[in-house]
Amino acid sequence: MALPDEFSISRRGLLAAGAASVAAASASSSVAEAQSRPLADPPPTAKLRFDVNGTAHDLELDTRTTLLDALREHLHLSGTKKGCDHGQCGACTVIVDGRRINSCLTLAVMHDGEKITTIEGLGTPDKMHAMQEAFVAHDGFQCGYCTPGQICSAVAVLDEIKAGIPSHVTADLTAAPTVTNMEIRERMSGNICRCGAYPNIVAAIGDVAGVKA
Ligand code: FES
Ligand code: FES
Repeated sequence: MALPDEFSISRRGLLAAGAASVAAASASSSVAEAQSRPLADPPPTAKLRFDVNGTAHDLELDTRTTLLDALREHLHLSGTKKGCDHGQCGACTVIVDGRRINSCLTLAVMHDGEKITTIEGLGTPDKMHAMQEAFVAHDGFQCGYCTPGQICSAVAVLDEIKAGIPSHVTADLTAAPTVTNMEIRERMSGNICRCGAYPNIVAAIGDVAGVKA
């Protein structure tokens, strides 16, 4: 008996329908397999202890955490600023064991056992560090975003000069470097101020050094 048209199916149509249902079944079985697979291993962590502004901190951090993120996100010391996060602006400058560094370019785990000073550790609104007072007196900022990095850097710059470390513009490498406008500008060149407060920043640093820079 002949079937009505709506029940008739060609051999080619039957094969195509079969292939489609096999593909759908295999796709759904790979989704189920992926869903039942355990999640990727969590990132490795490391325990560390460092001293920040005179207080010891014990942390366990993802080993990829930068020192900047450890300070801001884990210790909630938001005075240190994230500008470029690429080592190009100096907004994240902190002092580690007496040397200034860009905290966005270094991993927290590399500073286990070290002594870190941030802008919060230099002074307080009631008892400011001499460099903070000089920045206020000389109007060494406008928006203030770069200022914590500028001040930490400036404190370290004067220590570098006092320690006799020459810079690219030191004329006589056999003599102790002195604080000059050129020395300050050269040594502070890694700290960008988008407001352009440079003349007042240099004046503030010169003031603390006791010279007319
Ligand atoms: Fe670190 Fe810009 S945020 S150098
Ligand atoms: Fe605004 Fe320096 S004071 S970026």
